[in-house]
Amino acid sequence: MAGKSTAAAGVKKMPAKKIGEKKVADRKKVENDRIFIERLGRHHDELRWLYMELYGNDDMFAELCDQMKRYYDLRNDKLKKLDAQREVEDKWYHRRDMVGMMMYIDNFADNIKGVQEKLAYIESCNVNYIHLMPFLDSPKGRSDGGYAVADFRKVKPDLGTMDDLSKLAEKCHEKGISLCMDFVMNHTSEDHEWAVKARQGDGEYMSRYFFYEDPSIPQEYEKTVPQVFPTTAPGNFTWLSEIGYYVMTTFYPYQWDLNYHNPRVFNEMMYNFLYLANQGMDIIRIDAVPYIWKELGTNCRNLPQVHTIIRMMRIIGEIVCPGVVLLGEVVMEPDKVTPYFGTVEKPECHMLYNVTTMATTWHTVATRDIRLLRKQMDIVCSLPREYIFLNYLRCHDDIGWGLDYDTLKMWGMEEIPHKRYLNDYFQGKTPDSVSRGELYNDDPVTQDARFCATTASMCGIESAGFEQDMEKMEQAITKDVMLHAYMFTQSGIPMLYSGDEVGQINDYTYKEDPDKVTDSRYIHRGKFNWDQVELIKDRSSVQGQIFNALKKLENIRRDEVVFSADAEVWTKDYSDQSILWIVRRYMDEELHAVFNFSDNAKTVWMPEKAEYMNLFSGSTDEIETVDIPEWGFLWMKKR
Ligand code: GLC
Repeated sequence: MAGKSTAAAGVKKMPAKKIGEKKVADRKKVENDRIFIERLGRHHDELRWLYMELYGNDDMFAELCDQMKRYYDLRNDKLKKLDAQREVEDKWYHRRDMVGMMMYIDNFADNIKGVQEKLAYIESCNVNYIHLMPFLDSPKGRSDGGYAVADFRKVKPDLGTMDDLSKLAEKCHEKGISLCMDFVMNHTSEDHEWAVKARQGDGEYMSRYFFYEDPSIPQEYEKTVPQVFPTTAPGNFTWLSEIGYYVMTTFYPYQWDLNYHNPRVFNEMMYNFLYLANQGMDIIRIDAVPYIWKELGTNCRNLPQVHTIIRMMRIIGEIVCPGVVLLGEVVMEPDKVTPYFGTVEKPECHMLYNVTTMATTWHTVATRDIRLLRKQMDIVCSLPREYIFLNYLRCHDDIGWGLDYDTLKMWGMEEIPHKRYLNDYFQGKTPDSVSRGELYNDDPVTQDARFCATTASMCGIESAGFEQDMEKMEQAITKDVMLHAYMFTQSGIPMLYSGDEVGQINDYTYKEDPDKVTDSRYIHRGKFNWDQVELIKDRSSVQGQIFNALKKLENIRRDEVVFSADAEVWTKDYSDQSILWIVRRYMDEELHAVFNFSDNAKTVWMPEKAEYMNLFSGSTDEIETVDIPEWGFLWMKKR
């Protein structure tokens, strides 16, 4: 008895408030654990099956499960709440009011805090989805625009800290804005801790990359693997003379390909993914997805194992952070793209870039022939509505001419001369062209150059400004707005490149920077010009016209149900090869979206004499025919 009372006296009694708090915390933990176990239970068997198929390693699978729980526990309450909301609300990224904008943090606002200060401007652009271009630590001059990551858990010091990022995410969420970042999982920078150790000859780390002492294997690979940067970074291997090994480098020599045959690489990269998701990211853009699995004797693109990995990543996300959406960067020929959605039962990416449509749009501008674009639209329109595409006119990368050449051939357009024509046209070398821009990776062997410029420069705003030609300027603005209207007509998420909303033109100053001069993609990654934002107040300025027109289009898209992701969409057969006609129908509403891809004004015949409201001008009339200016468009809603 005496002993017991002494012991009891030694224990400090917990105050009632603390006991209450502990009880709440315990209950919360039980509830959180229940949610995790329930989600894991839903996916465990499939995940295990896929993992074993690829790696056959029970211990590593067990570690993965433990770590998923760890990252789930680390996920803050606000994000868990958002996950729960999104699980029931379902498909938040299908909403028709979604408008994205991609930006380099330093170009836009110097650093992460600067972006936070500029959120009001972003909101004024109707943007509710921001893609922050790569901002993780990456060596200066060897960064490939940030796509050579030296540390997946550290922000580039001049841009801020991880804490700044989480705070920005929180602020964005308060305003209903989603945040997207890149997850560069195909490779690391040569300065990444693993690469540094591998370069020192540490076998454990060498096995995380592809190292070969004997040149015969790299040579074998080179026989079947195409080159991504044939002129700026030829070949797929880099010789490391200090240790006498070749290392696989599909992109730049300082970007070392990760070896996903090694389960340690997969596990660690998944932990990095979850760590970044936990900073409050809503969308994770998986960079260069098709490349992540390599196999000798193949082209090392789109191999079945890539799909296994992405499916596992999707499952891992659904268990730990189901509010997070995966956006796959699949810049491939059309039939290789859609498989990355997976199937409706076993989905992979939530969203993909509509890359073929983007390239085909510019082909249409240059040829004034909509036939291929129509064919491409018909393919996209026939896909399940669950498939969400990110539509864009241009991004931070070059435009590659990945078109359907089998079809073009039937119309007399052969691949090599046609690519040459497109590149000449957009460089402004053909007499009828108003475009300005530069080639990218002009490969003398395959004659396969790609193209770089901003939307405004491709539409003629740069040349008209240079020539001080007001008439040309008006036409360039009309073309620029029409192309945006066309982008907004498509189902999916429209994505603007920061600066395009004010018609920003090419920036040639990259040529003065030794770190950038060899990479012409910097021509369209210029510093955002805030002076142009001042000019939008003047509605007659170039900036004012473009900004306000885009805003109007976005508002219409948000307000009109015909733009819903569930609408039926098809193209209409029209007798003019320069007129692209898209119909959207939702419930009893019908929109006729008509685009004039030619230098001549046209009169088009509506399907029947009826009352139509021109959503852009706001006028309503009973009409049978309607005039459409050169490079103009109509959004006609049937009354
Ligand atoms: C992606 C990026 C591109 C980068 C490459 C290598 O394609 O969009 O900018 O060069 O990946 O990481």
